[in-house]
Amino acid sequence: MTDLTATPQRPWLDATLPVDERVDLLMAQMTLAEKVGQTHQVANIDPSADAETIRAGRISSSLYASGATGGNERDDGVLVGNIDAAQRHAVEGSRLGIPILFGRDVIHGHRTVAPIPLGLAASFDTDIAEQVGEIAAREAAVDGVAWTFTPMVDISEEPRWGRVAESLGETPVLSGRLAASIVRGFQGPHPSDADRIAACAKHFAGYGLAAGGRDYDTVSVGENTLRNLHLRPFKAAVEAGVHTVMAAFNDVDGTPMHAHEHLIREVLKGEWGFDGVVVADWNGIGQIVFQGVAADNREAAALAIHAGIDLDMVSGSYLAHLEELVESGEVDVALVDDAVRRVLRLKFRLGLFERPYAARPGAVNAPTPETRAVALRAAQAAHVLVKNDGVLPLDPSAGSVLLSGPFVDEGEALLGTWTLDGRGEDVVSPASALRERLGDRLDVSDGRFSDRTLQQARRTERTVLLLGEHPSRSGEANSVTDIRLPHGQLDVLRAVAGLGKPVVAVVYTGRPLDLSEVLDLADAVVVVWHPGVEAGNALASVLFGDAEPRGRLPMTFPLTTGHIPTSTHQRPTGRLIRADVDLDEGRYLDALTYARLPFGFGLSYTSVDYSPPTVSTPTITPDGTVTLTVTVTNSGERPCREVVQLYFRDPVAQVTRPLVELTDWALVALEPGQAREVTFDVQAEQFAYAGRDLTARVDEGEIVLLTGPDSARLQPVSITVRTHS
Ligand code: NOJ
Repeated sequence: MTDLTATPQRPWLDATLPVDERVDLLMAQMTLAEKVGQTHQVANIDPSADAETIRAGRISSSLYASGATGGNERDDGVLVGNIDAAQRHAVEGSRLGIPILFGRDVIHGHRTVAPIPLGLAASFDTDIAEQVGEIAAREAAVDGVAWTFTPMVDISEEPRWGRVAESLGETPVLSGRLAASIVRGFQGPHPSDADRIAACAKHFAGYGLAAGGRDYDTVSVGENTLRNLHLRPFKAAVEAGVHTVMAAFNDVDGTPMHAHEHLIREVLKGEWGFDGVVVADWNGIGQIVFQGVAADNREAAALAIHAGIDLDMVSGSYLAHLEELVESGEVDVALVDDAVRRVLRLKFRLGLFERPYAARPGAVNAPTPETRAVALRAAQAAHVLVKNDGVLPLDPSAGSVLLSGPFVDEGEALLGTWTLDGRGEDVVSPASALRERLGDRLDVSDGRFSDRTLQQARRTERTVLLLGEHPSRSGEANSVTDIRLPHGQLDVLRAVAGLGKPVVAVVYTGRPLDLSEVLDLADAVVVVWHPGVEAGNALASVLFGDAEPRGRLPMTFPLTTGHIPTSTHQRPTGRLIRADVDLDEGRYLDALTYARLPFGFGLSYTSVDYSPPTVSTPTITPDGTVTLTVTVTNSGERPCREVVQLYFRDPVAQVTRPLVELTDWALVALEPGQAREVTFDVQAEQFAYAGRDLTARVDEGEIVLLTGPDSARLQPVSITVRTHS
């Protein structure tokens, strides 16, 4: 049994001391080689092959390893169950006994897989996001995972870019608030609790601007746009206490992010006071060489440590070169100390020195009824109804249904793009959930375009067609040039719709798609993303109206691929392009320019009316608050959960500002016929932006506040910001 109590030789083990004091005590004992060891992360640690390196204090962290005990090898060659064996070498075999930090991608659930992050974002629900994070942390901790690489808060206007699946949408406020909730869910109030793990805001910064939507591509953006858009959700995550931030693969205006001293060391660590760990992305330091900005890994290591990358994910450049770079005077040891201090701070904060081993005899992390209930709520809340001619909700007692399409019997494919631990057999498929309700009135086909499918559709009264993309078409390195449905799917829809019977199209996707023809042909359309383990139950409950559809689009759905990039925060040009006025005066010769489905859009099974907004005062000071009130009335016959959205426009500023920008929202439950007054306390600070000198400012002058059910159906009220009333 390891003795983890403080001794005169190991005073840093005294858990009653403040963390920074413990870090100082430990660092005072460390050799340069041991310090450099704390900046090195390996993939798939192997307690046998890596034993000597661990004992020399030369491995700080491990990526991907999972499973506390019982080490064995899986088919794919990945070692599992080795965490405690590797940890024992570090804690009991190394000179200073510094524990290893085990990280793994737990992106949208661990074993209980929830909707992909873009789906979670569609819920606009911070409570659900936090609960999903909390469950994922608890389950991952059982497998020995102490740190994960989520949330991804890259803002993107690029549906071709597959990684939008992992994002929280296109607006900084939605992305930032959900990120803060996810961080709270993973880390909790005390990240040293056994059921909590560290989170990571990624990828800092500008990754969502990859040219042409090609993953990893170059990024050309000015600092004003970065500050007014792309950096904001990172700042929100930092303010929520996120322990780590991951650097992005891309360059920003010529400087690789892994070498970007200004944005990482000066802005993130300096200006924002972030005192956690900046981790490289996979071989991100080595990639500076591929980017042609360093001749070799030695030079890349020097650039990265100057920039403020604290932990080298797998490139080995720090381990190989940092000592020598310090000894030659090319790198100040203070830079290494800064990195080591941050890594050790995190290890102390996580309680690893007190609780280095993960084994918890008897602990299980398979989905339970309780965790499934959260996954179900999350998946239901992610369903976005984008068209309904009245065919939904389906009446379970009326007639037969054909369920058709490539996802009918799927398990694994409905988990989504980024899950290492979800299991296909844990997924409730659409066919099984619908069969439970309809019994032998359900007919099922695989959706291939065939006479058989058509014959089945002729025999049944309604068709539910499951369309969309397999998750392997979205996520990292999965970009596309065309956001229409995969080949053949529209042919089936056309043929089935041609029969003249009601057709409901259900769209599984990791990105906004060109749904124009689907919207024209189907009687109802529901976008469900990749929903996770409760996929089938969530779908059945929404289709039959046990759960009301309440999701809203967290990204704009463009008219066609050619319209990309599109977003709600479009800025004005010298030629007016107000979507509400100039629909016919498009910017293209061959198409109109409005979005097919705007940001924030989604229907319920009822109708909701909005009153014009009113404000408590027409003028506020730059540090003041105004209360905006809007009355929403459920004018239909079913209950709903309305996402009441608040936007603003700053008509005259130092730099071009978005035509509308989401600044707040409220989730409001309404019974049929019920009216509710919804109030927003709006602080003038919410209108702050980076001006021409890049510093934050709130201007005097008019601000237009706008409320409505989505970014395209808004009613305005103006206020004035004035220093003296
Ligand atoms: C590369 C991805 O960009 C990043 O998001 C992920 O966390 C790391 N690989 C580790 O798997």
